[in-house]
Amino acid sequence: MNWNHWIRQIHRWVAIAFTVTVIANFVAIAQRAGGMPPPWITYSPLLPLAVLLLTGLYLFVLPYAARWRSR
Ligand code: HEM
Repeated sequence: MNWNHWIRQIHRWVAIAFTVTVIANFVAIAQRAGGMPPPWITYSPLLPLAVLLLTGLYLFVLPYAARWRSR
């Protein structure tokens, strides 16, 4: 099993889910002008963002880790 491949796939697909939650926020705000949308919509991007941060940091470190190992 290739971990790097799966982490990249997770990052790619969660990025789409994250984008959907951000758009849902704009739609919810536009629908109820003046008021706040329900908190579960407001905070829905946070979980995918946390997953993106962790998988993104992993992807960021990969090329450096490969260089350290090849020394
Ligand atoms: C939160 C912190 C984030 C970090 C540290 C991060 C880091 C990275 C890194 C290092 C890569 C690999 C780049 C490469 O291979 O040259 C990557 C790819 C990518 N990132 Fe992020 N990212 C983050 C958040 C996001 C967000 C918010 C989105 C979009 C909503 C996103 C979308 C993508 C996509 C689509 C790719 C290409 C994946 C692929 O198809 O291979 N990332 N990211």
